[in-house]
Amino acid sequence: MTNKGKAEGFARGLTNYGDRDFALYLRKSFAKSMGYSDEALAKPVVGIAYTPSGFNNCHRHFPEMLEAVKRGVLASGGLPVEFPTVSLGEVFLNPTSLMFRNLMSMDTEEMIRAQPMDSVVLMGGCDKTVPAQLMGAASAGRPAVQIVAGPMMTGRHKGERLGACTDCRRFWGSFRAGSISEEEINVVEGRLATTAGTCAVMGTASTMACLTEALGMSLPGTAAIPAVHADRLRAAEATGALAARMAVEGGPTPDQIITRASVENALRVLLAIGGSTNAIIHLTAVAGRLGIEIDLPWLNRLSDETPVLVNLKPVGKHYMEDLYAGGGLGAILRELKPLLNLDCMTVTGETLGQRLEAPIDHVDREIISSYDNPLEPQGGLVALFGSLAPRGAILKRSAADASLFEKEGRAVVFNSLEDLSERIDDPDLDVTADDFLVLQNAGPTSPSGMPEAGYLPIPKKLARAGVKDMVRISDARMSGTAFGTIVLHVAPEAAAGGPLALVRNGDRIRLSVKNKRIDLLVPEDELARRREELVPTAVRPKRGYAKLYADTVTQADQGCDFDFLRAEPQS
Ligand code: FES
Repeated sequence: MTNKGKAEGFARGLTNYGDRDFALYLRKSFAKSMGYSDEALAKPVVGIAYTPSGFNNCHRHFPEMLEAVKRGVLASGGLPVEFPTVSLGEVFLNPTSLMFRNLMSMDTEEMIRAQPMDSVVLMGGCDKTVPAQLMGAASAGRPAVQIVAGPMMTGRHKGERLGACTDCRRFWGSFRAGSISEEEINVVEGRLATTAGTCAVMGTASTMACLTEALGMSLPGTAAIPAVHADRLRAAEATGALAARMAVEGGPTPDQIITRASVENALRVLLAIGGSTNAIIHLTAVAGRLGIEIDLPWLNRLSDETPVLVNLKPVGKHYMEDLYAGGGLGAILRELKPLLNLDCMTVTGETLGQRLEAPIDHVDREIISSYDNPLEPQGGLVALFGSLAPRGAILKRSAADASLFEKEGRAVVFNSLEDLSERIDDPDLDVTADDFLVLQNAGPTSPSGMPEAGYLPIPKKLARAGVKDMVRISDARMSGTAFGTIVLHVAPEAAAGGPLALVRNGDRIRLSVKNKRIDLLVPEDELARRREELVPTAVRPKRGYAKLYADTVTQADQGCDFDFLRAEPQS
């Protein structure tokens, strides 16, 4: 590692009084009011970005994890000091958690920079918290290591394993189709999420945990440890110990770890695990903080040559606890070794290649396929381009019905989320299973703030007739735990005047996954006429964070970060 001897501890970044000695004397005096001794105050300081919240079920076990992190810091000669930041509990936020990811990232960045810490442990887990912390830490530039919450254990219902949130959707679909009763759905509600931790499948939180380890920003072998497993506490302790070492050594810093090469490794892992579509947005935002651009043709190139190896819901059968028992991310990385950039630096100062030299004691081939015998020969995600999405759209092909991949259909259009919820179940809705459902005005600058609404429900009358999947297109996102032939993140979005805004009921749309295209089959002169008629419908916010968000959020292909937070592109 570099920059030995950089620890400044409590003397770092003094409050400005125009007299440095006075500022230090005053700071120590106030620190002593918390009971610290001179000896404690002379140690390197490890900040701990700590995000429990009564509105965040996924972080319920953070007090116990915090103790373990602190134990590790203290045992290694550092002084652990936790500090709160914004916490984002996925299902407790309105209109949607994505809108607040950038707020949390700014909070994290500024508190790391403003407070006297020599390194920082990032404690996050629920969907948006890990990307927010990585974005903030990347911008702050202080040595940082992530420890994630870890996934929930599965619950049981009538002898069947249940895990949030793929099974939440499956049971809800059955309820809508009339195949289970209201009494049963009420029972299931209490059996889906039964322990602390993040969603139990390869959703956004688990995907981000895997990408963080693949980037090198967390300790090896930690991504998949269940939240309630004793190994997670040991991982937390080891993370604290590492952070104390990083505080003394002054590195490595996030910019030494998150590079174009390590971002490529993370993209490979995203594709191989059949990970969440949301992770594309988050990884783009994290990389963008260091001037690394992720363009979607790059994703497609990698997707064409990266196999799907992991048999986890929502794409496959199993749960995160099975992935941990079956070898974890370490086993996946070892399979992907021929495709990875092995000289990338990680938080421990080792390269990824050095990490992967250690043998692994067991790999369950039911959960993790070998590179030579993959579940799918190509990656789980594909970017589509065409007249409907000039700047791209995303389809999770590993979670979609391949019989719908080469198809032309008639558009059935909903111009907002409200319109969707009012009309989708109308028995008189003119819709067939061969139609394409189109949702407009659910992108980043729309009033809904790009919610996970891209998984448009199958209209009730079709669901009751047994229809399980349809082509659905929107500028919204989709939960990482969902599945279906769902085209998302259409850019530019409708609210920014993208072609999606010009689609009308009855238009023809052609989807070709083979050609990576999504096209609106309407003559250009007709589109020009419709463009003239477009009237902005949304009222722009006039104050506060909502105004900052609406004025500066970028499109999905730039990670929905604020334009002023992104770094200049690296040449
Ligand atoms: Fe927190 Fe799913 S609700 S990860």
